[in-house]
Amino acid sequence: MANDVRTHLIGLLLGAEEDWPRAFESILSLVGPLDVKGTTHTFTSERVRIHPFDLTDPVRYRLVIDRLAYWYYHPREWLKKASLMNDTYLLNSPFTFQAMEKHSAYVAMLRLGMKIPKTVLVPYKNPVDNTRWAYTAARYNDPFDLEAIAEQVGYPLFMKPFDGGGWRGVSRVPDVETLHRAYDESGNMLMHLQATVDYEHFARALTIGPETMVMDFRPEQPMHNRYAVTHDFLSPQAGWEAETVSKVVNSFFGWEFNSAEMLVAGDEVHPIDYANACPDVAVTSLHYYFPWAITALVRWSAYCLVTGRRPKIGVRDPRAYFDIADDPDRTYLEKMQAYRQLADQEFETDRYWEWCETHLPHLPERVLEWVDSPAFTQLLEDTVRATYPQHEQEKFMAHFGGLLDLWVSDQRSLSASQR
Ligand SMILES: Nc1ncnc2c1ncn2[C@@H]1O[C@H](COP(=O)(O)OP(=O)(O)OP(=O)(O)O)[C@@H](O)[C@H]1O
Ligand SMILES: [Mg+2]
Repeated sequence: MANDVRTHLIGLLLGAEEDWPRAFESILSLVGPLDVKGTTHTFTSERVRIHPFDLTDPVRYRLVIDRLAYWYYHPREWLKKASLMNDTYLLNSPFTFQAMEKHSAYVAMLRLGMKIPKTVLVPYKNPVDNTRWAYTAARYNDPFDLEAIAEQVGYPLFMKPFDGGGWRGVSRVPDVETLHRAYDESGNMLMHLQATVDYEHFARALTIGPETMVMDFRPEQPMHNRYAVTHDFLSPQAGWEAETVSKVVNSFFGWEFNSAEMLVAGDEVHPIDYANACPDVAVTSLHYYFPWAITALVRWSAYCLVTGRRPKIGVRDPRAYFDIADDPDRTYLEKMQAYRQLADQEFETDRYWEWCETHLPHLPERVLEWVDSPAFTQLLEDTVRATYPQHEQEKFMAHFGGLLDLWVSDQRSLSASQR
């Protein structure tokens, strides 16, 4: 009897990026038809177009990877419609992602007992643009002593918006003069004052479904040099914890494509920024880690589509996490272990890896061949040309080409040692 054939169409909702979508399309084409339980599954993707839509229009995409809705609201509303009306699977739901900015993420993980630096939210510097503001402020706003709050937080501190991203409005405040200047300049941005963490390592974890890569990040470096290729840069304990923070944040909020920034001193892991709806996956920043990231996106998408994973629309009931958090008999580590279990259940981690072994055993080798081929060199060249001025292109081509060659040779020795 002939197999049923199901074609899964994945939508890519894109801003200005060309590199990873091309890589995604290439790697998706390497997945090939998969025979699972009598059904043949094939995969294609399309870049989503933006146009007026009737709320009852059908949606052809079974799954959408969104890189745009955090700033472009027309497609954001389309995503909401697709999610509510058409059961389209979204890796990050706008219902939670746009509602749970940095501030909510701080609060929630603080409640779970994570080591979030002391953080205070202060009212707007400038009046809110609303005719009722003057009355409300005069009647209900308490006067407050900014200097006293800063003293409590301690200098140097960071002042940054409650919903930040891309360094917008972030300043390091070493003294009281800078404090007033930064607050005066914050205008209509709502600001946190946050204690500075003295750290040895800046760990940036990228989590895609059940897969996490913890990377050695150097924010003071220019973009092309921010991710160092250093394995085991954290102690085993801190490495496990960094991975766990990233997974737990995602499972708590139902996010499946997010990055977490953590400041690490010894075995202490302090999460500082972990609500990033559109994590950086450019080949010119991830380089060595780029093939892993795009493969993970393809693998997780294929897994969700073939297994019929149910999309989550809102934030799930956090009670199971809070029950652990509120248990006075558990240590910090025991709580983290318990959250990690919940996260692994949420992302079906064991089942996922078994599924990949059964149905996608060919993929890593094919991706390796592709990254080692002229087609990938072309992608890299086009990206470098689009990103850097002409006189720097040769240098950057050599830089990224070298890092990706290193990835290829590391993968070859790894698979040789596993044989
Ligand atoms: N509490 C802190 N202690 C030490 N450094 C901090 C702290 N908060 C922020 N920083 C520094 O400031 C940078 C920007 O802060 P943050 O990540 O919170 O803002 P952002 O707008 O999300 O920036 P980005 O988009 O670069 O991640 C961090 O990468 C880190 O170097
Ligand atoms: Mg950040």
